[in-house]
Amino acid sequence: MKSKYLGKAVDRFDGRAKVTGSAKYTAEVPVDNLAYGVLIQSTVSKGKIKSIDTKEAKAVPGVISILTYENMPKLKGQKPGAADRSLLLLQDDLIWHDRQNIGLVMAESLEAAQEAANTVKVNYAQEPFAVSCNNDFAAISKKAQSPSDRETTKRGNASQALKKAAVVVDEIYTTPAENHNPMEPFATIAHWQGDNLTLYESTQAITTVHDRISGLFDLPTDKVRVICHFVGGGFGCKLTLWSHAVLAVAAAKQLGRPVKVVLGRSQMYGTTGHRPKTIQRVALGADESGSLLAIKHDGINTTSRFYNYTEEVTEDTPSLYACPNLEASIQTLGLDIGAPTWMRAPGHAPGSFAVESALDELAYKLNIDPIELRLKNYAATDPQKDQEFSSKELKACYIQGAKEFGWEKRNPRPGSMKKDGYLLGMGMATATHATYRTHAKAKVTIYANGTALVQAGTQDIGTGTYTIMSQVTAETLGIDISKVKVELGDSALPKSPFSGGSLTTASVMPAIQSACESLNRKIKEMAQAEIISEQSRNSSSTSTTNNFAEVLKHNKLDHLDALGEYSPSKSSQNYSMHSFGAQFAEVLIDPELGTIRVNRFVGTYAAGNILNAKTARSQMYGGIIYGIGMALMEETLQDENTGRYINADLAEYHIPVHLDIPDIQIHFVEEKDPHVNSLGVKGIGELGITGTAAAIANAVYHATGKRIRNLPITLDKLL
Ligand code: MOS
Repeated sequence: MKSKYLGKAVDRFDGRAKVTGSAKYTAEVPVDNLAYGVLIQSTVSKGKIKSIDTKEAKAVPGVISILTYENMPKLKGQKPGAADRSLLLLQDDLIWHDRQNIGLVMAESLEAAQEAANTVKVNYAQEPFAVSCNNDFAAISKKAQSPSDRETTKRGNASQALKKAAVVVDEIYTTPAENHNPMEPFATIAHWQGDNLTLYESTQAITTVHDRISGLFDLPTDKVRVICHFVGGGFGCKLTLWSHAVLAVAAAKQLGRPVKVVLGRSQMYGTTGHRPKTIQRVALGADESGSLLAIKHDGINTTSRFYNYTEEVTEDTPSLYACPNLEASIQTLGLDIGAPTWMRAPGHAPGSFAVESALDELAYKLNIDPIELRLKNYAATDPQKDQEFSSKELKACYIQGAKEFGWEKRNPRPGSMKKDGYLLGMGMATATHATYRTHAKAKVTIYANGTALVQAGTQDIGTGTYTIMSQVTAETLGIDISKVKVELGDSALPKSPFSGGSLTTASVMPAIQSACESLNRKIKEMAQAEIISEQSRNSSSTSTTNNFAEVLKHNKLDHLDALGEYSPSKSSQNYSMHSFGAQFAEVLIDPELGTIRVNRFVGTYAAGNILNAKTARSQMYGGIIYGIGMALMEETLQDENTGRYINADLAEYHIPVHLDIPDIQIHFVEEKDPHVNSLGVKGIGELGITGTAAAIANAVYHATGKRIRNLPITLDKLL
């Protein structure tokens, strides 16, 4: 297929609006008569509110009202005290975690609301708490909860095979709690007009927000409209409705005027999700030649006591390598912390750190090259599901990546390579992410002036959704891309899925393509009808135009529209679907100070057709940079004595800055996937972070001979 736009490095549709500041993010949407809401958050991590004194706060000039559990309306679908609720909404006096939202001050100005929030005095009855756990897998496993709805994944008998294996690696790996820290904080503007609610919310899921708000406030779904045109990063935390948005809606209703709530950076620690800590045991057994005989992968993640979130660290493991015996399980450990949630490649990212580190350890024990070990155990078909892969060009990723990286220059002996006085380490790991797809709708309208409008109730979380929507529309309709207008981020548009699980492109784009194709068919029919009628009048006319503008004009139509839908086909469900890649890291380590720098990074990926070379590359950059943060810096810390967050801001919670980021090379190998969808596209938003931390940890081992199994790899762990 020769494409004019698909696969090309088309500039961002919204790039100009973003760099010139004309793109309005949620907090910037102009709404008249706004009241400013500032959250009051708890300063203890467990107990009860004995009293809230708001007298002084109410006396601050400009303060309008204060919402607490004492005057908050009871919400449908939120059972007070129920252990399974995921939202804490001032329905009672209970405190479940540090920085829990316990009130909302409304004022005429942000400053007045902030001042008042600071003067509210809360009296707590504190209770004993636990906000952290050690890394003792066996002991914690005994206390932890096993999800009842999930059986242990199994094939063969891993425990028995491990006993017989010639070479065994059996280790505990941990990844810490992390916070998403999107550049744009959470922001909400709730605007009631009579019984109609318009909610501007920074979200990855307008549909989810719409449906949950309708349910909580017992509103007919057509009375609620959720709008989000631009998102300054979400990484999973914005896939969920959190309590600040619900409180803003309740407050706006109570006040009879619109309310805006913007969270401060530190207010997002606790109330808006985090990646939970994981403790994972990985046991690998192999024969002397390096053939895997057994894989055992057991994970525990910490979770809140009011909402049990499972970090699916073992999700990819059963399908990844050919091995006759496998066992995988997950457990959760409740703590007095906020609810965890999905964070970029949830499960996949921490899971891949453990498994891909263990594979490196096995390669050293066997004295086999780590790529060779992976090729030796390459799964040509999915060994767990006993299905063909819809496509899998992972082998090409290993081979091309090794070549681009210069893997052949690596002397495998730890500590043997040096550069400019630094210890040099090279490490690699496999990247993989499940390919998800779901039902999506889109509408395309063509106009007699030759333009087209594409609409879908999805959102662009900064990944390039606007851009590829315009590409698919222009390509399929055969028009210039400058003629395409894109609308998204509005729950009134045709229903499309949340932007998570890397499924937007694979689900929404086929729906758009389908809408365009039905328009093409209609135009063709209309053109043929014209030709026939003209031929019957005048046999000399042989016009075969299918230019829709002319056809519409000829038929005296201003416009024509079509709805497109996508659902994963039944037959496609007979295939195992994953995206793949090979990650290569080079680190330089100061032998005296232990400082670690990632010096080079090469990522080679196979993810079906790539719709936009430029935005796809940026996605992979983002994933790798997130992975560098995961490997070397990120860790959310809570004080065991107070239960409070220690590093709830970007001064203390470290993420990579420009100087931490090396030369990153991205390559996509060609991968044709006839099964995934009509465009042959898989998702890529999360693939880039998988395997990244392991590649870096493996490089650190190669440089120093020190195996760090507990992220982040900070210099104190090397000295
Ligand atoms: Mo992703 S954690 O599905 O935004």
